Amino acid sequence: MIKETYEKYVLPNILNTCCATKPIDYQRKKIVPNAKGTVLEIGIGSGLNIPFYEGSQIDKIYGLDPSPELCEKAISKAKECDMDIDFLINGAEEIKLKSESIDTVLITYTLCSIPNPADALKEIKRVMKSDAKILFCEHGIATDTKVAKWQNRINPLWSKLFGGCNINRDIPEILLDSGFKIQNLEQMYLPSTPKIVGYNYWGNASI
Ligand SMILES: C[S@@+](CC[C@H](N)C(=O)[O-])C[C@H]1O[C@@H](n2cnc3c(N)ncnc32)[C@H](O)[C@@H]1O
Repeated sequence: MIKETYEKYVLPNILNTCCATKPIDYQRKKIVPNAKGTVLEIGIGSGLNIPFYEGSQIDKIYGLDPSPELCEKAISKAKECDMDIDFLINGAEEIKLKSESIDTVLITYTLCSIPNPADALKEIKRVMKSDAKILFCEHGIATDTKVAKWQNRINPLWSKLFGGCNINRDIPEILLDSGFKIQNLEQMYLPSTPKIVGYNYWGNASI
């Protein structure tokens, strides 16, 4: 009962606030404007990426997220822009879209929270056109062993408190293991952010 109340009423507001910091907005600006054509955003959450899309390049956006509470916030943001956005309230393990129908997959700060990223990436691959791109920006395991050690220690508790978010995932390895080719990869600690959650990986990948 307490867990359900926390996940329904408290967690969506925590995620919305934690994902709206200035350094994260700066990351969004590097990634989101590159989306074009028919876009699938995985884990659209409260819609924090919506203002960063370059509307003139977008034909349609599908915003997928299993949380109705977060989608409700994203739907309000979608009403304020003039892009065509449809919502799929579902996990990425099952995407109710046709195979080879997507030009760009956008995924920001979500691979950390998907329970089985390999299943989700298999389904993501299915809906991508052969020349489609995944644009990604994620926090993950730091290359600095001291920080990584703390990430591994704290992760079990962190994950319980923050909706299944894992702070110790190896993002490039997850993409490569699922058969994606990473075309461009950058990584660094975000400024003004605790190191255990601040190590970011971003770039793009193709099939
Ligand atoms: C930290 S939030 C990030 C939200 C958003 N992508 C952003 O950049 O602000 C993690 C998101 O992953 C979503 N999520 C959790 N499990 C998922 C799954 N199986 N498939 C897709 N999204 C999932 C959560 O509902 C949540 O919206």
